Amino acid sequence: MEAPATETAKLAFAGKTLELPVIAGTEQEKAIDIAALRDKTGAVTLDLGFGNTASCLSAITFLDGERGVLRYRGFPIEQLAEYATYSETAYLLIYGNLPVKRELEQFTSRLADRSGLPEGMEDFFDHLPKGIHPMAVLFSAVAALSGYYPELTHPNPTREEIDSIILTLLAQIPTIAAYSYRKGNGLPVIPPRRDLSPTTANFLHMMFGPAGADGKPDEVVVSALRKILILHADHEQNCSTSTVRLVGSSRANAFVSISSGIGALWGPLHGGANQAVIEMLEKIHKDGGNFSKYVALAKDKTSGFRLMGFGHRVYKNFDPRSRILKSSCDQVLERLGVRDPLLDLAKRLEEAALKDDYFVSRKLYPNVDFYSGIILRAIGIPTDQFTVIFALGRLAGWLAHWREMLESPGFRIGRPRQIYTGSTERRFVPLAQRG
Ligand code: COA
Repeated sequence: MEAPATETAKLAFAGKTLELPVIAGTEQEKAIDIAALRDKTGAVTLDLGFGNTASCLSAITFLDGERGVLRYRGFPIEQLAEYATYSETAYLLIYGNLPVKRELEQFTSRLADRSGLPEGMEDFFDHLPKGIHPMAVLFSAVAALSGYYPELTHPNPTREEIDSIILTLLAQIPTIAAYSYRKGNGLPVIPPRRDLSPTTANFLHMMFGPAGADGKPDEVVVSALRKILILHADHEQNCSTSTVRLVGSSRANAFVSISSGIGALWGPLHGGANQAVIEMLEKIHKDGGNFSKYVALAKDKTSGFRLMGFGHRVYKNFDPRSRILKSSCDQVLERLGVRDPLLDLAKRLEEAALKDDYFVSRKLYPNVDFYSGIILRAIGIPTDQFTVIFALGRLAGWLAHWREMLESPGFRIGRPRQIYTGSTERRFVPLAQRG
């Protein structure tokens, strides 16, 4: 992966003029390469929240927040959500191309081979505190997998070992998620089935057991979950993916690197927003459906309240994933015959916010999490499992980035700088003399 310098930028600082190379991506995005800045000037850059910092070169996902464009390996998200399976999408993200039939069959068959948990791991779920959040279970169980596969934990995995790690995590995380739900609710676990698609139908089977007359989960439900997983599968250098890369850059093993991504995803400003949206809508509903009151609260900085599912660091016109999910939401609820008052409330809230100057001027639009929770509720996923579903989808992206990073020439440990703002040197005063 190369991005040649196309031009230079001039920086005048401390009486010197420095020429810095400008790198252009394939979509003509430009970056001023400041690698030499500190050596030549003694200064570093400051970019709180990394809003203007590219941390790597990546050929996986392109997104243009101004135009609402999202593509995986060049394929528009709208086409993948319509036509692809989750396994195809995962393969595409990780290996760069859509698989041909033989490759896909081999990939899904290998996933099926690995979908059972390692011997003894089932007991893990029996010793957890009652009421533990499913994201905490996922976080711990994925890190614990490193103990079951010590041969896959060394710092310099070969290509074959990388493939094996990828297949193991893609196959086992849905099983962990489903077992965590069953055990957490005092239900017997349902082992995976080879004949079902790995992450969608098989996951639903392990969660809820046989559904239709043929013992397979309902097609409408499978398709709704498929769309959600594909739409969440990657989003370039978001908080959790950057975490996976940063932890992985220390050459910590893949299990703890992915587990760290799960931890980052849990936060309500990131993947935890889907749970927070439903809790917010339920609260507004219980409060008589007075959404204007909550729009006003969100605008009041002293309230500490934000409209969950609104706003995005990079999308400033619309989130293309939210558009797809809004229409999927209508279809799924209609096909399942579910009438959810929260959907009407969500639509009215969106309408009110989009007319309000506070949201318009700050370019705050519904994001992917605004409608996904309503779909997940309709298909029977408990609210506290919503972020787990996000993790199942994002797993493909995390693995694609982890693999890309390991194989990037010149990859080194991630280690940002800082500007220190604390005390200058002070003299230690022994306790007895401190008064
Ligand atoms: N409700 C109310 N105000 C919001 C808001 C929301 N959901 N999201 C952002 N704002 C306001 C901020 O208060 C800030 O206002 P100011 O300029 O007057 O100070 C402005 O919009 C910019 O917000 P900021 O927090 O700087 O943007 P960010 O890029 O750092 O944060 C999010 C992006 C997604 C974290 C943020 O929009 C948010 O918290 N959204 C709700 C959580 C959510 O849905 N997360 C899922 C993301 S997929």
